[in-house]
Amino acid sequence: MKSSIFTQDTAFKKHVAEGLSAKSKFLSSRYFYDKKGDAIFQQIMAMPEYYLTNSEMEIFTEQATDIISAFGMKKDQPFELIELGAGDGTKTVKLLTALENQNYTFEYLPVDISENALTQLKDALSIQLPELRINPKQGEYFKILQELLTSDKPKIILFIGSNLGNMSDEIANTFLQSLSSYLKKQDKILLGLDLIKSADIVLPAYNDPTGITRDFNLNLLTRINRELGGNFNIQHFSHQAEYSEETGITKSFIKSNIAQKVTITSINKTFDFDKNELIHTEISRKYNDSILNMVLGGTNLSVIQKFTDQKGYFTDFLLKKN
Ligand code: AVJ
Repeated sequence: MKSSIFTQDTAFKKHVAEGLSAKSKFLSSRYFYDKKGDAIFQQIMAMPEYYLTNSEMEIFTEQATDIISAFGMKKDQPFELIELGAGDGTKTVKLLTALENQNYTFEYLPVDISENALTQLKDALSIQLPELRINPKQGEYFKILQELLTSDKPKIILFIGSNLGNMSDEIANTFLQSLSSYLKKQDKILLGLDLIKSADIVLPAYNDPTGITRDFNLNLLTRINRELGGNFNIQHFSHQAEYSEETGITKSFIKSNIAQKVTITSINKTFDFDKNELIHTEISRKYNDSILNMVLGGTNLSVIQKFTDQKGYFTDFLLKKN
């Protein structure tokens, strides 16, 4: 078989071929997170405009003790703390430190698709919390959860950072139904969600003046160039973000500044772009109680407690499997 210099990731190829052939073009934010994308996302989290990280950090710093007691674990009852999409763990370390200080018996299982992120996290935690029992798991959430089903320890799932916000309501509902099916009664999920608020706060978080978010979004085209043999000229595309206070949804797009053609060698296709044509790349949904309850429909999960920052921007919802 002839080998190719391009990625063997057929799912990525298929996705790009489908998304760029569609009448309204789209690409999934799932593909933002290559090595460069991970690094740019770190920069986003450090931006003053990206209030989400600061708000959730405040919750984890100021309310760690309350969150932990809401977990409802006895100190000598071993449990598993499983984090989906652990990333760099800066917020989680607050919770882990509080759990250790209070002598809880637990194992921390960070799950991430990125081996790179997990190694960095493990190294950082071995210095900050040398006593921590940590067992990183690389892979897809559900494959890992399947493995974990064999353990009969109670589980706390962390799904923080507004990561659910990248899913449409329908997909979020399916996701939570399936997540819940892996849990036993009394297991809990700490779900960190950004709240619906005015556009003058939300929009700058997704369209910062320094252009970090632009780089994050357009990195997807650079990734296609490198991994799939594309010839996108990044100069001829721009970043566009919009937010509706009515729906609570932020949408990000890549806009073609001129009429142009782009060829992607590894899929043998050329795509036409009109001037100002958009590629939809991301949704970042903001929540309130009624939207969350809608998305929890049919899941066997219910909200038992809420932890919100002082400004009222962000909430970590504690859900219990009934
Ligand atoms: C990592 C999904 C929480 O949607 O707010 C940041 C990603 N996109 N800026 C978000 C993101 C643009 C982020 N999440």
